[in-house]
Amino acid sequence: SIDKKVDELLRQMTLAEKIGQMTQAERKHATPEDVKTYHLGSILNGGGSFPGDNTRAEWVAMIGAYQDAAKSTRLGIPLIYGTDAVHGHSNLKGATIFPHNVAIGATRNAELAQEIGAATARETAATGVHWTFAPTLCVARDDRWGRAYECFGESPQLVGVLGKAYVNGLQGGRLNGKTIGSNKVVATAKHWVADGGTTYGSGDEGYEIDRGDTRLAAAELEKIHIAPYIPALQAGVGTVMVSYSSVNGTKMHENKALVTGKLKDELGFDAFTISDWAALGEIPAETNRERVVRSINAGLDMVMEPEEWRAFIADLTAAVEAGEVSMERIDDAVSRILKTKLRAGLFDAPLAPLAVSSDADAVIGSDEHRALARQAVRESLVLLKNDANLLPLDKGAKVFVAGDHANDIGLQSGGWTIEWQGGRGPVTDGTTILQGIEALSDGEVTYSAAGDGAAGHDVAIVVVGEEPYAEGMGDYRPAPCEKCQPITPSKAQREMLARVQKAGVPTVLVVVSGRPLIMTDALESARAAVAAWLPGSEGAGVADVLFGDHAPKGKLPVSWPQSLEQIPVNIGDENYDPLYPFGFGLTYEKP
Ligand code: IFM
Repeated sequence: SIDKKVDELLRQMTLAEKIGQMTQAERKHATPEDVKTYHLGSILNGGGSFPGDNTRAEWVAMIGAYQDAAKSTRLGIPLIYGTDAVHGHSNLKGATIFPHNVAIGATRNAELAQEIGAATARETAATGVHWTFAPTLCVARDDRWGRAYECFGESPQLVGVLGKAYVNGLQGGRLNGKTIGSNKVVATAKHWVADGGTTYGSGDEGYEIDRGDTRLAAAELEKIHIAPYIPALQAGVGTVMVSYSSVNGTKMHENKALVTGKLKDELGFDAFTISDWAALGEIPAETNRERVVRSINAGLDMVMEPEEWRAFIADLTAAVEAGEVSMERIDDAVSRILKTKLRAGLFDAPLAPLAVSSDADAVIGSDEHRALARQAVRESLVLLKNDANLLPLDKGAKVFVAGDHANDIGLQSGGWTIEWQGGRGPVTDGTTILQGIEALSDGEVTYSAAGDGAAGHDVAIVVVGEEPYAEGMGDYRPAPCEKCQPITPSKAQREMLARVQKAGVPTVLVVVSGRPLIMTDALESARAAVAAWLPGSEGAGVADVLFGDHAPKGKLPVSWPQSLEQIPVNIGDENYDPLYPFGFGLTYEKP
């Protein structure tokens, strides 16, 4: 049995081998030789880190070399390789990029979430990767938080249902000792816990809105932020990543009550916890050793120490020798890691058979996966407004399209797309919203990024939205903040909209963003408006709905605030009065 095999291994392991298992390094900072010498248990690539030209073959070769090194050690324990495949295999060029979680929340479709998880697992396993740091089970309670788009919504129930479905899709069900195999990966429920509930502006310097402090009474914490983890835990999620943020002033990475007491003892999580990237460094203590001790004693099992992993190993070794961390704690951490590796079948198939099969290339960005992503895009669109049934558009209409976001794969994909923070431009393959419109229209389509030349058209589609961002960002005011992503359309976008409207053409506003944008006046002035979220690589799904090939069916996964001052506004609040409530979404009156 798995337990027997774990005991057998533990009995033979030296302290160095055990601590090695607890260590995760980044690919740029550890070689296969290091894996051999230090018995490293895991390697990851951070956002924007990939081998060579970012081809599938290079990923397989890289992971194969690490795995060969691990297998050649005395006990031959395979390593587990992790990546942020958070909306598709989102570090791999050419992969299908699915809409971000907020959009999946708008679909309310658990079956679809499961299929997306399964498709993501196939593309990820095809590169030899075993483990994804997804799904994020945050409950988005404040739109100013720069990672709100990684949440399925503001409702714990919605996050719970979709999170579980996604985990099932990624893992193919409970890890059970068989090879998770050729087309599945280990999932991560993250970030434990209450990452989406942080008080605005309470993070450390440079992270004023990200990595903050969630201040809540125990019952509320349970009801809002812990509850959505229960279904994922019941589904057997393989790992849990601990949050950078704090709960009631205590950093989660040293929060024994919540990591060991709640998650492991009370909720029965018997697999392993992983830290966030270099997160121990944020524990307020004098020395690295003290931080290591506090965090391992709180219940961290594997530590993501991308660059300074040698210091982690040295400090944990010294701490164990000095009795600051008990051997029982080390054995507990290591058995959890070994158990997960055995449950995932890594001892039998260190490299997923799919990764080395001749079918693998065809899996990446396949027609089937892109069709699924396009379905997800159209199911996620929320029709906010449709005065006098301007939508759906007549396919023969003379259409004017405006805005950078109409024709940019990078902008429509958002953060965590090939680059950590995402970026503009053709970062990967796919279809822009404009290309989708051009493909479905039988009439004339004119595009102007700045909105010049709208006069004389039957209808204008004006696409506004956010610049891509990931960690450390958010709308932080009033302090001037270089990293801020204002939660409103930019001045240039407002001017573009005004220019188009001045031409007297009826306007459809399409909003490409990870969260509701504050734009009450613009929404009032447009004849129709659609929230398109961050659709990913298949922009054509937006056109499917604009032209009425599919009716809109998305429902708001978050409340849409009227003004900046109104944030945070969440369903269930006293005097709840957003511009559009949670669950809002129109459809077409005429077919
Ligand atoms: O998985 C991520 C996490 O969500 C945020 N910090 C970095 C990790 C690894 O890239």
